[in-house]
Amino acid sequence: MTKPTPSNIGQAYDNFADLLDQLWGENLHHGYWNDSSDDASFEVATSRLTDKLAGLLTIEPGDRLLDIGCGIGEPAIRLATAHDIVGVGISIAKGQVERANDRAAAAGLADRLSFQFADAMELPFPDESFDVVWALESLHHMPDRWQVVREAARVLRPGGRLAIGDFLLRSVDGTAADASSVDLVRTGVLKFVDIDEYQANLRAVGLLPEAIEDVSDHTRPSWAKAAERFEAARDLAEQHIGAEQFGVTLSRFRQFADEPAVGYVLLTARKPG
Ligand SMILES: C[S@@+](CC[C@H](N)C(=O)[O-])C[C@H]1O[C@@H](n2cnc3c(N)ncnc32)[C@H](O)[C@@H]1O
Repeated sequence: MTKPTPSNIGQAYDNFADLLDQLWGENLHHGYWNDSSDDASFEVATSRLTDKLAGLLTIEPGDRLLDIGCGIGEPAIRLATAHDIVGVGISIAKGQVERANDRAAAAGLADRLSFQFADAMELPFPDESFDVVWALESLHHMPDRWQVVREAARVLRPGGRLAIGDFLLRSVDGTAADASSVDLVRTGVLKFVDIDEYQANLRAVGLLPEAIEDVSDHTRPSWAKAAERFEAARDLAEQHIGAEQFGVTLSRFRQFADEPAVGYVLLTARKPG
């Protein structure tokens, strides 16, 4: 199957914005539930995942943040509301950039936060220009994750921190999972990687891995909840992607709700200096 390009992915995000609003709301990422008795709503749980990743980082007043793959801006807005920082977010979807800027202005943050259209594969920023680089559930879309990680390392100042939330390919009972069994290419998930590959590639670009949390058991309910919402939005979804692709995507969401090989990792790394 031909893999979608960044431009295809950006257009899909904008074309399907109404559907994504129904499915995910303002956070375009998975949620975090404490345990099986946690009945937090999707909205609460997705904001919680932002807070969990932020909690693994040192964020200082005055820090300059880059949000790679900013969605409609909610994670950066949440970070800038909680911390006295300035920031820039980028997305490959032009409509998202416009909405993120409108949302930052509505939150009274226009003087500290801005969003722009850019491809993360070639960050349009000078070397050593950010204290924190943040990529929450965006790297799976990149044609080459490690090129984006290399770019992140380049724009981080010495001592700067990288925070990532990403899907994970996990070993099951000590056996490496088969990546082809967790295929979501059509929905833009180009590749799942495992923790060892992550650590090796962070080190290869000169970053020092710090926190690594496999939060798969906490994020897994997202798949079943996404399936429920997807089914509720069937008419709209079928208008966008057709009945056949709707069925394939729904069955993948359901498969992943019970698939231990599909996980989720939060990790941070530091640029020495
Ligand atoms: C699943 S959404 C996550 C959005 C946001 N981080 C959040 O948590 O709400 C993935 C984001 O990555 C962006 N993205 C995908 N490929 C990109 C690329 N090559 N360059 C910049 N952004 C990209 C999409 O436009 C989208 O905003």
